[in-house]
Amino acid sequence: MNEIESLKMEIAILKKELKETKAQSNQYLQNVAHQLTAPLGAIKWSIEALKDDRVPISRKKTLLSSIYSQATILVHIVKNFALMSNLEADHELGQFREQPEPIDMMMLAINLSNDFQPQAHDMDIKIKVDDNSFLKVFGSQQLEIEKNLVAQAISNIIENAVKYAERDTDIRISACTKEDGIGIQIESLGIPISAEEAKNIFDRGFRGHSAKQKVAAGTGFGLYLASRVMKFHGGTIKLETNNHISKFTLVFPHSRLVRG
Ligand SMILES: Nc1ncnc2c1ncn2[C@@H]1O[C@H](COP(=O)(O)OP(=O)(O)OP(=O)(O)O)[C@@H](O)[C@H]1O
Ligand SMILES: [Mg+2]
Repeated sequence: MNEIESLKMEIAILKKELKETKAQSNQYLQNVAHQLTAPLGAIKWSIEALKDDRVPISRKKTLLSSIYSQATILVHIVKNFALMSNLEADHELGQFREQPEPIDMMMLAINLSNDFQPQAHDMDIKIKVDDNSFLKVFGSQQLEIEKNLVAQAISNIIENAVKYAERDTDIRISACTKEDGIGIQIESLGIPISAEEAKNIFDRGFRGHSAKQKVAAGTGFGLYLASRVMKFHGGTIKLETNNHISKFTLVFPHSRLVRG
């Protein structure tokens, strides 16, 4: 009898967990749908304006670069969605596994920052890659990594920096050597992260109070995914904050450093 009772209890707990997971997935899907709506709407609106003969050519050029920028955001959201679904399915990133390959981190940082230049430009924000720091840390060496995963992790952090930074500020991307590995740092000046928020910031679904007010749409999965990607590489992700300054550092183990 006791055994039946305890089995019943177990089933009840599992049912409750399943219900919660379903509710979370639903909310996530709603969030993603919400996030996709804004760039798709902006693209549609720009195309309407492109078709309008009264709109001057000079304005049309701006519209085209806006379409490009919005499409970049869409690709970014969809890639996060794909990673997230993969994690939900088997709790590992293994399925995305390609062969790790030697990557020139300075080139990667420059390419990724270029993706976000249009959004940054709208806010008078400058994304600066500190070439000297990369040359000093890497010389002719490269990092052996799964490029697409790391690119998505870095993009998530640059995207946050652009989204949560103050107008007319600089975002600085640099390389550094830490005791436990090679670091890629992204530093921005914007909404402060409280000590309490910093504790939970890499949790799945966590969003800060001020962040929600500044940007309503968001899933809170960006940093969670970045931390999973770093774990997958045997590394870590760290946050240092000082009032309005936030610095995120991706630390890769020294063993991933290879000759270029
Ligand atoms: N550069 C930053 N400056 C200030 N706050 C930040 C910064 N980066 C992240 N945060 C805080 O960390 C929280 C979690 O970030 P995360 O990228 O995981 O989710 P999100 O940006 O809110 O949502 P999504 O990435 O889905 O758009 C943010 O909501 C915000 O409170
Ligand atoms: Mg984010």
